[in-house]
Formats: sequence, C-alpha cells, structure tokens
Amino acid sequence: MTIEVKDLYKIYSLEGVEIHAVNGISINIEDGEFVSIMGQSGSGKSTLMHIIGCLDKPTRGSTKIDGQETTELSENELADFRLDKIGFIFQTFNLIPRASALKNVELPLIYAGVNRVERRERAVKMLESVGLGDRLGSRPTQLSGGQQQRVAIARALINDPKIIFADEPTGNLDSKSGAEIMAILDSLHKKGKTVILVTHEAEVAEHANRLIRLLDGKVIEDGPIKANNTGGKRKNELV
Ligand SMILES: Nc1ncnc2c1ncn2[C@@H]1O[C@H](COP(=O)(O)OP(=O)(O)OP(=O)(O)O)[C@@H](O)[C@H]1O
Ligand SMILES: [Mg+2]
Repeated sequence: MTIEVKDLYKIYSLEGVEIHAVNGISINIEDGEFVSIMGQSGSGKSTLMHIIGCLDKPTRGSTKIDGQETTELSENELADFRLDKIGFIFQTFNLIPRASALKNVELPLIYAGVNRVERRERAVKMLESVGLGDRLGSRPTQLSGGQQQRVAIARALINDPKIIFADEPTGNLDSKSGAEIMAILDSLHKKGKTVILVTHEAEVAEHANRLIRLLDGKVIEDGPIKANNTGGKRKNELV
C-alpha cells in the first residue's frame, strides 16, 4: 500500500487572509513503514494527515494510495476507500458518547454491510485483543482515557485496514496508558501495517523508523530516526 504525495497544497481562506496549511509537500511512504510526523503547532501535520487519509481534499496536488489517485474520488468513493483501507486514531478518541464500546467498534461494520452476527463476533474479538473483553457494554464516559483510546483503536482496526493514521494518540493520556497505546501501534507495525503517527513527544516519535518534520506547511527534515533528531534520547543510548 504505497503512498505517493506530490506537490500538495492546502490553502484556507479566512476573512480574506490565505493560510497555507500545506505548502508544497512531496513524500513517498512505502508499504509497512512506521513514520512519525513532528513539527510545531500549526505546521500542517493534521491537515496533511487528513488529506492523505482521505478525510479532506487538497487545494491542489496529488495523493495516490496503491496507485489510486484519491483526489479524484467523489465523496462516496472516498468514504468507501477509507472504510476499506484506512484506520484513524485521534487525540480526543472521537467515540460516540451514548454508544457502548461494542457498538462503537461495530459501527464501521454496519457501514460495510456486515451482518449482525458476524459484526458482533468480530467486534468482541477486536475489543478482547486490546484488553477490553470485560468492558463491552461500557459507554465512553464509564471508561478511562486509555481505555477509550483502546476502543478507538479497535474501531480503527475492525475492517483490517492496511494504513493506520494516529494524530497525537497519546496526547491526552498519562504515560502508562500512552505506553500501552504505543505497544499496540508497535505490534501493528510488526504485523506489516503502515503506521503514520503525529506526535509532539520525542519518546513517542522514536517508536517509528522514519521522522518527517514540518514547518509552515513544508517538509524541513525527512530521514531515519536518530535519538538526536527527535529532540529526545532513546533508552539505553548515551549520546
Ligand atoms: N478549517 C480550517 N480553516 C482555516 N484554517 C485552518 C483550518 N484547519 C487548519 N487551519 C490552519 O492551518 C494551519 C495548519 O493547521 P493544522 O491543524 O494542520 O496544524 P497542526 O500541525 O496539526 O497543529 P497542532 O500541533 O496544533 O495540532 C494552522 O494555521 C491552522 O490554523
Ligand atoms: Mg494537529
């Protein structure tokens, strides 16, 4: 599932002022890569992820996933494409508050037209795999932040997407819950998924193999992760 981004721009117009949120980005991401995106607030990280992840359209430029030019797809086609190939995890979990963990995870399968029995079975298995087999009936408000994020991950994975986008998935979590979430992302990467992670935290970024740094909507750095280019130190490393 190769991702090819070429000459990508997203320009917002706010009260006559143009904001160049993405300002000419070209990157390729290979199948199975684990990439961290860093950069100061407002540098365009979320905007870029939303465009690559088919949640938003660019002003101009091209994004291809597995050779498919996604900027040319209609809203309906984009929704189907997303359902099939892409899982999203957000900082604020974005769960449906009145629905149980089980219902939240089942939802994408309802859109995918999976029958009730299979839906339930798959959602239960997925929640068990993130350690929430005993909380199927709990609503988001009855769960801790870390548990809510695990429900969100189960929901993101229920259609077995090839690409996982995580936009500051540990941003609202304590360090223990954050570590649990990162362990799940590590295992997804080991299983061959492509993982694209936005984070402000060096230790979180260092789970990836590659770091892309943005500034003012442009890539200012792109290469393998080293302890000294995330702004943090890797464990067991002295430099
Ligand atoms: N819907 C919108 N309308 C107008 N401007 C927007 C919109 N969405 C984002 N922007 C602007 O685009 C720029 C990039 O925003 P973006 O959310 O991509 O940044 P970010 O790197 O994800 O920041 P953060 O680390 O704070 O999440 C910012 O200047 C932001 O104000
Ligand atoms: Mg953001």
